Amino acid sequence: MPVPTIAWEDNALRLIDQTLLPEQYVRIDCGDVETVAEAIESLRVRGAPAIGVAAAFGVVIGAREALASGSDIVSGTRKAIERLARTRPTAVNLFWALDRMGRRLSEVADRQPAQIRDSLLEEAQEIFEEDRRVCRQIGRNGAGLLNANATVLTHCNAGALATADYGTALAVIYAAVEAGKQVAVFADETRPLLQGSRLTAWELRQSGVDVTVICDSMAASVLRQKNIDSVIVGADRIAANGDVANKIGTYGLAILAREHNVPFYVAAPLSTIDMSLPRGEEIPIEERKPDEITRGMGRQTAPGGVNVYNPAFDVTPSRLVSAIVTEKGVAQSPYQPAFHAWFQGK
Ligand code: MRU
Repeated sequence: MPVPTIAWEDNALRLIDQTLLPEQYVRIDCGDVETVAEAIESLRVRGAPAIGVAAAFGVVIGAREALASGSDIVSGTRKAIERLARTRPTAVNLFWALDRMGRRLSEVADRQPAQIRDSLLEEAQEIFEEDRRVCRQIGRNGAGLLNANATVLTHCNAGALATADYGTALAVIYAAVEAGKQVAVFADETRPLLQGSRLTAWELRQSGVDVTVICDSMAASVLRQKNIDSVIVGADRIAANGDVANKIGTYGLAILAREHNVPFYVAAPLSTIDMSLPRGEEIPIEERKPDEITRGMGRQTAPGGVNVYNPAFDVTPSRLVSAIVTEKGVAQSPYQPAFHAWFQGK
């Protein structure tokens, strides 16, 4: 594993506190459900697959808390699932993982409390291991999209820090590098919380991949001047028609890529595809607190009390997406038939 974003060690959920990177590398232990929920809400752990995996372990912690307090383990665990489901609304991987944990709980609900707890831990570990395998497969499936000498632009962080292994969008880059290709990356800083400059630049440097940070507002000029071969991003939720919710700014980048005839790729696991939503307009978009913008850099960066609009994600229409890479393969528009085939063959 390139970076231990999430680990189950000594019977505890251990996370890298991503709010402190790149200044400090600190790993924190989450011993109760509230700490896990707070870690997700405040983006100590973030990125769609990582949120799902962390929440799955959060459910195990909920079961353990119920067991220790002598209360009913089934209802205690269900309460934990409800609390974790209220943390962040957009990344569907969270609900996908919680549903899986809830199903496992229903299957074993009539067993002894300790057996219930152990079954839940088994399920969370399987979600974790699955995510690791899926990242590698997305990398293998997507690496062929890059030339032997490629320059890629990415937005936000869809790498090792966002998953249990080496990412989705960045998995494509890591796998291409492993296959002997030369890849240079431009990373949008990704305002307001700087996942690109703080996290993507940090992990690519750790891995020895050539990375250049730019402000988001420089993307158009970079696409015109720097021979960008492709834009690759991750996703938080993909609707059944291929519309993609991802970090705010992704939609603008997709429009810029189209204007400059640069392919725009999305890499994500099947657990990010929400077949219950026909179109992207139906994806719930999280709005976050104004101070992420007004006090963005640890100092006042806008007048106090000013109106702020702070959506954390936007939706890119599928017509701007050149291809979607998953662990099942690479699909192009129209996406619906490919998605159906992937889910049927699961
Ligand atoms: O708010 P964040 O940092 O959780 O947003 C993360 C993203 O938008 C990522 O691009 C997405 O979750 C894919 S991570 C493999």
